[in-house]
Amino acid sequence: MFGTVHSDALVFFGATGDLAYKQIFPALQAMMRRGHLDIPVIGVAGRPWTSDQLRTRARQSLEEHGGVDQATFEKLSARLHYLSGDYRKPETYARLREALGEAQHPLHYLAIPPSLFAPVVEGLGTSGCARGARVVVEKPFGRDLQSARELNRVLGSVFPEPAIFRIDHYLGKEPTQNILYFRFANSFLEPIWNRNYVESVQITMAENFGVQGRGKFYEETGAIRDVIQNHLLQVVSLIAMEAPTVHDPEAVRNEKVHILKAMRSLEATSVVRGQFRGYRQEDGVAPNSQVETFAAVKLSLDTWRWAGVPFYIRAGKNLPVTCTEVLVHMKEPPHTVFAGSELAHNLLRFRLSPEVLIAVSARSKLPGEGMHGENVELIARHCPVDEMAPYERLLSDAMRGDPSLFVREDAVEAAWSVVDPILDGTTPVHEYDPHTWGPAEAEGMIAGDGDWHNPTTTVEHIT
Ligand code: BG6
Repeated sequence: MFGTVHSDALVFFGATGDLAYKQIFPALQAMMRRGHLDIPVIGVAGRPWTSDQLRTRARQSLEEHGGVDQATFEKLSARLHYLSGDYRKPETYARLREALGEAQHPLHYLAIPPSLFAPVVEGLGTSGCARGARVVVEKPFGRDLQSARELNRVLGSVFPEPAIFRIDHYLGKEPTQNILYFRFANSFLEPIWNRNYVESVQITMAENFGVQGRGKFYEETGAIRDVIQNHLLQVVSLIAMEAPTVHDPEAVRNEKVHILKAMRSLEATSVVRGQFRGYRQEDGVAPNSQVETFAAVKLSLDTWRWAGVPFYIRAGKNLPVTCTEVLVHMKEPPHTVFAGSELAHNLLRFRLSPEVLIAVSARSKLPGEGMHGENVELIARHCPVDEMAPYERLLSDAMRGDPSLFVREDAVEAAWSVVDPILDGTTPVHEYDPHTWGPAEAEGMIAGDGDWHNPTTTVEHIT
């Protein structure tokens, strides 16, 4: 295996698509600016474009997403080529092999719908384009456990596992990585990070916009497949995993798989699904759609550390704000010494977006004669300086052969196993008004363990 040899060409399938427009061209310019992309870049898609048309598209993409850096863009343009071809025809891959010229270790990035993964992977295999190559696969990785297994089988028939990089862009985010760092670079958390001190954990991923014209995609997906199976279960695994012995990609990925496997499969009674009013009028959405745009689940982890600690997760479109936050609720002090101290919010907060912060909320004495208190928050805020966007980081890592931030075969299947039993769409879908916190039934789910904490977009203090 070629291990950490740097890829010597980047091929991206789906070059004329939405993902390329929104994420890949900005990432390519950023990589070029940092000197991480001194190799040929070949965009592939079905449209009969020329390389100049692709360059024009790249410029438009940058104008809308982050801005054109003229000098860097010229370098990128000189490297950028377009290959038009039918993904299902062998001649496309023969021409690709020719276009790759001397390159022996290309990175193939499949920014295409999952239904095309198999023909492309097979085309790469039979044409020799896969030899010595790596492949990056976009989410959604399948639509349930069975299709994920099938995809793994197809990929595995052409590429060895160390050459397969399954993207979950949440793992490329700075604050997500900081969960791992913060947990294991400090010693004060460890003694309390378990069932003896933690009452419950809440994770909210709220978005204040709807499906933004992606009705057709969403109809096949829904909130559970779109963000819970991947992004949010990955966040849970970072919050709950055991410490890796070393900072080594496989050591970290082994621990993540252990915790994913310890997550109990969800049952109908541990999920509330919702749909915002108006979703059914979106383009591409069935008039009687039962697809959820909101989901709340109660997750149990069967481990010595977490037995009995509920992990509540909710995600939704058209909620009041856009914010992703993890709250770890600590147990109350065992005995009340000061009247009113039971009002304390003993909690730890990791906000992953839009701001990045870690906060500890506690009770502190109010100045004055009596022993009266107030809730205060100790906040560490990170102001991003030249922060790498997830796609830049992930593509650069894949080109170096670093799998740390990619999802391994066993992890992706373990995550599907957690949600698989609730994917049949048979649990009721409750309507909610846009810009509310989802259906009332979601409140019922958490009752007994407090309330959902609804984040606001400005960095609020929990009082
Ligand atoms: C994507 C989902 O994976 O993540 C989208 O398909 C969602 O529905 C997006 O909006 C959220 O990611 P980010 O980085 O914009 O918060």
